[in-house]
Amino acid sequence: MSELRTLRVALLGAGSVGSQVARLLTEDREELAARAGITLDLVGVGVRSLDSARDWDIPAELLTTDAHDLVQRADVVIELIGGIEPARTLILEAIAAGADVVTGNKALIAAHGPELFEAAARVGALISYEAAVAGAIPILRPLRESLAGDRVNRILAIVNGSTNFILDRMDRFGDTMEQAQKTAFELGFLEADPTLDVDGYDAAQKAAILARLAFHADVPAEAVYREGIADITAEQIADASAAGATIKLLAIAERVTGEHGEGISTRVYPALIPKEHPLASVHGGNNAVFVEAAAAGPLMFYGAGAGGVQTASAVLGDLVSAARRHVAGGPGLTDGATAKLPLIPIGEVRARYQIALRVSDRPGVLAQIAGILAEAGVSVETVVQSVAEAADDSEERTAMLVIGTHTSREDAVQNTVSELRSHEAVREVVSVLRFEGE
Ligand code: HSE
Repeated sequence: MSELRTLRVALLGAGSVGSQVARLLTEDREELAARAGITLDLVGVGVRSLDSARDWDIPAELLTTDAHDLVQRADVVIELIGGIEPARTLILEAIAAGADVVTGNKALIAAHGPELFEAAARVGALISYEAAVAGAIPILRPLRESLAGDRVNRILAIVNGSTNFILDRMDRFGDTMEQAQKTAFELGFLEADPTLDVDGYDAAQKAAILARLAFHADVPAEAVYREGIADITAEQIADASAAGATIKLLAIAERVTGEHGEGISTRVYPALIPKEHPLASVHGGNNAVFVEAAAAGPLMFYGAGAGGVQTASAVLGDLVSAARRHVAGGPGLTDGATAKLPLIPIGEVRARYQIALRVSDRPGVLAQIAGILAEAGVSVETVVQSVAEAADDSEERTAMLVIGTHTSREDAVQNTVSELRSHEAVREVVSVLRFEGE
């Protein structure tokens, strides 16, 4: 057997994922070398502070606070710092110095992907980021490589574990939103500032990355339509259940036909998904990506979407691939946007809706509401009415109407909802949610 050569690996960041990457690189050194065809030599770990406590004790001689110097001494740079700067500058420096890059940085790829891919393509470097979406789940390489000969039509994905945990608690254990968020926080699912997760920003970044790979087109994260889960209530969960569905925060990337032809719709919102759909059985903090491709049909990728050692698996997979390329030679593959597909505005997207209204309980109200919907071209499929008893004679009796629509355009539904809001018999538009995955 020929003697193995050495690949210099620099690690930037030693948080929960980074320290596990360092541990596995050290403990599995021989096995990884055999698989990669080259020894993976960890030459340094860039950290902010030399004496922070870490999940695994990285040998002190590897630690450095000079990341700019470290990237000059590596063949592959693993960036696990997160955020935009200094990660972006360090990656550009690494590429300019001739290194390949492995990153788990979804915010950076979603915001600056094209800039980084172009810089890598100019020098024939490889940039890979499997860990950026759905943690341990292999999904980016399957989209980029295994499905490269197919036509992906739609992706429905649960890519945010903490919001899935919260909605699952509400659905299966009857928690209120407040109780579920408290439990998620206590178990370490939610950050001190939960906004990124709860308001759907994290899922929107991942949706943009998935859409780019699925449709070979540029999709900026700001173009992803986004609604979070903060206002989801136990009543909505109950109404969903009565309609045979469960509520999940979905990241959706879909080929749709808009007013001017085919394009891409990307959106993140809490949606009703039929209980028999595979995504409905994704519980707790898990992630899953459901891909519908023209030839392959439906495919589901499921597993841990976060966690130090789990996400380290995705990082090491990218690293071994980069190492094999060094052995074999040839330029790195980058994710070019070869398709010119326009981004379709949310108003042109079609879905079925569940609209819950609290209305005055008197003759003719249901007919008036049906009339408003009909005028806007929104066709009613089901109506469930329940009457709320008035507390005393002075209080008006109201009824809850839960309306299921046939497939309708988003802008027509939103116009109708605005009209309903100002209708004298409508006390409150309680909820407007879309069905997906039917
Ligand atoms: N905040 C993310 C989640 C972690 O809850 O899934 C990984 O991106």
